[in-house]
Amino acid sequence: MKPIWKGRSIISINDFTREEIIFILESAKKMEQLSSEKKLQLLKDKVVATLFFEPSTRTRLSFESAAVQLGAKIIGFADPGSSSATKGETLYDTIRMVEQYADVIIMRHPREGAPRVAADATQKVIINAGDGANQHPTQTFLDLYTIKKRHKRITHLNIALVGDLKYGRTVHSLAIALSHFGCTISFISPESLRMPSSICEELTRKKIAYSHYEKIEEVIPAADVLYMTRIQKERFGDPMEYDKVKDSYILTREILHHAKKNLTILHPLPRVNEIEKSVDDLSHAAYFEQAGNGIPVRQAILALVAGAFP
Ligand code: CP
Repeated sequence: MKPIWKGRSIISINDFTREEIIFILESAKKMEQLSSEKKLQLLKDKVVATLFFEPSTRTRLSFESAAVQLGAKIIGFADPGSSSATKGETLYDTIRMVEQYADVIIMRHPREGAPRVAADATQKVIINAGDGANQHPTQTFLDLYTIKKRHKRITHLNIALVGDLKYGRTVHSLAIALSHFGCTISFISPESLRMPSSICEELTRKKIAYSHYEKIEEVIPAADVLYMTRIQKERFGDPMEYDKVKDSYILTREILHHAKKNLTILHPLPRVNEIEKSVDDLSHAAYFEQAGNGIPVRQAILALVAGAFP
């Protein structure tokens, strides 16, 4: 059965089939080829709300830029301190209000599962822009889009995910998405920040080859993609626990001496110090290009869920 995109909320990568993921990547490519004039017509009568209960630079600004370039109007807040959440308003009530003002609601929330709660409260489209340590599905689509652009495929690649695999929502979504494409996955993290067992069990169920490591050097020679992540300081209850692992991985030019010529280095950003600035000049470094790919990918998602894709 053909998937219905119009009115569809984007909550978790688990809700997407292999074919649907490929369709979003193809739609993003089409979006890149569309003229600015045509794009401006797509959401010209729509209002998009961005509700960010947690900080963001890329996700919020790229969604807003994407929507503006499609002709939409933007409302919302970047700081929950300026919203009535500070007065005790529940998420349910906030969504019941914003649904009266907007056609699409993009939200980031510290509580895992909050976007699902929001989607259950409204008939309007909810897009999960990151919920706690759980998921960041639209980041995954732009990660895959960047890999596809660089490697001409997303199948059967050797992908290394490095850093905070316990709390990093981007790597949770990405690992599940990669399971559709027969990739081999290496998890590199301190023992205390390993990929959650629920995700490993899903990979095992899908017969995906994966292994755990503690040193980046062990995976560099075989890697096609090295996906670095920040240790998620804000998720640690005990600052001393964060101090123990905060500098676990710092990628340098020297570490990359044994890398494949076409290795791609990705990072959802922001980085703290896990990639040295000297790496930015290498042809491997794709993290700024990756952030830029947020525009066509998020434009495609917005146009699809608004029923406006040409
Ligand atoms: N990649 C990402 O989610 O970045 P922001 O936190 O800046 O939105």
